[in-house]
Amino acid sequence: MLKRSDFPADFVFGVATAAYQIEGSSFGGAGASHWDTFAATPGNVADGTDGSVACDHYHRWQEDLDLIRDGNFDAYRFSTSWARVMPDGVMLNPEGLDFYDRLVDGMLARGLDPVLTLYHWDLPSDLAVQGGWTNRDIAARFADYARAVMARLGDRVAMTATLNEPWCIAWLSHFLGIHAPGLRDIRAAAHAMHHTLLAHTTAMQALRADGHGNLGIVLNFETAHPATRSAVDMAAAARQDAIYNRWFLEALTGAGYPAPAMEGLAPHLPMGWQDDMAAIAAPIDWIGINHYTRALYRATAGAWPAGETVTGPLPKTQIGWEIRPEGLYEFLLRIKAQAPGVPVYVTENGMAWDDRVDGGRVDDRDRQDYIRDHMAAAHRAIDAGVDLRGFFQWSLLDNYEWSQGYGPRFGIVHVDYDTQKRTPKGSYLMLKDALSR
Ligand code: FCB
Repeated sequence: MLKRSDFPADFVFGVATAAYQIEGSSFGGAGASHWDTFAATPGNVADGTDGSVACDHYHRWQEDLDLIRDGNFDAYRFSTSWARVMPDGVMLNPEGLDFYDRLVDGMLARGLDPVLTLYHWDLPSDLAVQGGWTNRDIAARFADYARAVMARLGDRVAMTATLNEPWCIAWLSHFLGIHAPGLRDIRAAAHAMHHTLLAHTTAMQALRADGHGNLGIVLNFETAHPATRSAVDMAAAARQDAIYNRWFLEALTGAGYPAPAMEGLAPHLPMGWQDDMAAIAAPIDWIGINHYTRALYRATAGAWPAGETVTGPLPKTQIGWEIRPEGLYEFLLRIKAQAPGVPVYVTENGMAWDDRVDGGRVDDRDRQDYIRDHMAAAHRAIDAGVDLRGFFQWSLLDNYEWSQGYGPRFGIVHVDYDTQKRTPKGSYLMLKDALSR
């Protein structure tokens, strides 16, 4: 296992979470988000659960921050819930902002850098019923929300991301129907693919005008390999790569939308989208990469994008995700080539396992290997000249894994959902040791 001293002196080691997955959305005067309503609709979430209590972090945040400090981490990537801060998407809930104010002070008191994500998916339901990400108005609404949060926290956060994973916000949620709002509609998806970027830049520029800095965005990347060397499978993988890995990064860096994605999406983009592209390419201060896995694609008959995944041969996590650390190295180099000069952070990486507590311990050897191999891949990328500044583990705690419910356990700390007891896993102890000063 690499140690802190193997990395550059100011390299940031952190852990990440997201509001809806840990806080408990029923507490503190939060409004309903589209995740509450999506989860309340039968068939959407594997175990029928929701985030109303989750890890009860809303009440246990001090204990959770202690765990981060005691694990020798430098930074905590957390998100603010839009529906907590603005229950109807517009009006402020003072209790919500007070909570994040205390949380940020609690990080500083423990010597942790607060790394804020403004949107990790809890869209207020009142905005969702107005079309949410399919409605262009979302950009202005999101900028208002971002300004309100940063007016309160901006003097103390170290870094701020506008959006977490626009591919999930747009494609997974409006084309594949797997996340809230659960649509399967190419026109809604194309609109969301554009409006996420528009909202990002609208909020970023409003924040800059208010004097805030160190603003970035978190993108997810997943290797899309062809299932065979046939031309049709290779084309299917290339379409997937364009929709998932190229769309956002290339638009943000002024290269426009990639051709293999535009084949299908161009007719469905909002009118006048071209006029937004210069603003979408406004400079960003950093890019976050979330990376977990790769997938194999084969061509299918039928409607564009005419591809589907097939099960690959690599070792897999609890939820079937193939483990391939080289993918992280490859994407870090790809980001360097596409966005030269922009500092990069690994903002999420980790794996789900069906962890059990045994005699007060959780022996998660597979996760320890996963972490070791991915940190080594990140280190190789630094050696290859990538300006990588930090690495955040997903996740501090086992938590609500969206449409998969509470089954998958991604934490380096185990959570017993009946008692809310936290038990640091072997991976936490391994990292604590590697990161000691
Ligand atoms: C990412 C999400 C995060 C978590 C991990 C496993 O896509 O950002 O909230 O669900 O996957």
